[in-house]
Amino acid sequence: MKRLISTAIMFISFYTNAQKFEGIALTPPMGWNSWNTFEANINEKMVMEMADAMVSSRMLDAGYVYLVLDDEWMAKDRDPITGDLVPDPLKFPRGMKFVSDYVHSKGLKFGLYNCAGTLTCAGYPGTRGYEYQDARFYAAVGTDYLKFDWCNTDGLNAQEAYQTMSKALKKAGRPIIFSLCEWGGHKPWTWAAPLGHLWRTTGDISAQFEGMQNHGSWSSLSVMKILDSQDTLRKYAGPGHWNDPDMLEVGNGLSESENRAHFSMWCMLAAPLIAGNDLRKMSASTKSILTNKEVIAVNQDSLGIQALKYSSKDSLETWVKPLKNAWAVCFLNRKTIAQPIRFDWNANLVEDTLSKRTLDTNKMVYKLRDLWSKKDVGTTMKTFESTVPSHDVIMLLLSK
Ligand code: GLA
Repeated sequence: MKRLISTAIMFISFYTNAQKFEGIALTPPMGWNSWNTFEANINEKMVMEMADAMVSSRMLDAGYVYLVLDDEWMAKDRDPITGDLVPDPLKFPRGMKFVSDYVHSKGLKFGLYNCAGTLTCAGYPGTRGYEYQDARFYAAVGTDYLKFDWCNTDGLNAQEAYQTMSKALKKAGRPIIFSLCEWGGHKPWTWAAPLGHLWRTTGDISAQFEGMQNHGSWSSLSVMKILDSQDTLRKYAGPGHWNDPDMLEVGNGLSESENRAHFSMWCMLAAPLIAGNDLRKMSASTKSILTNKEVIAVNQDSLGIQALKYSSKDSLETWVKPLKNAWAVCFLNRKTIAQPIRFDWNANLVEDTLSKRTLDTNKMVYKLRDLWSKKDVGTTMKTFESTVPSHDVIMLLLSK
């Protein structure tokens, strides 16, 4: 009996202590991260310019609030006396508090990166054995978001390692979005919701539309390759805990259509929207894609339900996302040539067992709005007929 009680107490304290900060990611987090464009080339001046650009380009106005520094912000060694993490003195001569104060002064929030292992993926000091100390460091320098990677973790249990860091962040007391970057190998969607706010579902994205890119010991994934593995995970996402199919490559070399398709699908997936392009010099087209508020509203819908893949035929996919008071429908053309679309609403009953909602246009007529042309395009009384350009989408909002 005594043993049973002590096991029960251990069990309860394990879970109650591990509770993450609640209420800070009720919709998918939005922001900017340095990795996809800059990798090691980050420094104080660039970060300050990026913070300025987030405001002047109206990214902040569109909802992108977190400015996150990825790998390579640190010096090669911890402080020899205190054991604290040290920002690279050449890149960040005035330290991280200075940078985060500047970021905060612009109305933005500040994020940093580290890793559960002994070293980060780029070989900088990892957090293993320093979880509570590092969590205090993040709180002290004003961090609002931590991306926590999974390199150099031999012998570590993923769930326990992320549990420890989650507890350490909670103990440090500053509400911090905890972004698990474990790449999906240990199925974090099955255990990470009590620990963090988002978890990577795959390996690293690259600015390619289809296929994979071989880097020797690992391969980076295209936008469509990642998309193909997300549909089965939809039941694990929801307000406060999101599947993360990796950061955006919009503006990093894809065509305009591909940028639009990538962004639309990440919005349909209720994915975190973390831009990864140089905001200081983005084209008008990239900017208008990243800041399309009507498309972002689909991503940020408070119901927090990830889209379902309704049909797929001849590389033309139809995705449907239930929204709080509406539906979003996205036709995606993966072919290298344009394809006609003909969608008879009344002949397509969409039943979503996850959200327990049914789209039945025989019972309710919806107005249709094309979210990219920003035009009202009739109602569900009439079969929708159009052409989807190659590697592009038509994204519709169905409202009452
Ligand atoms: C891993 C992550 C990337 C990035 C790099 C940094 O590959 O998955 O998103 O953070 O490490 O080294």
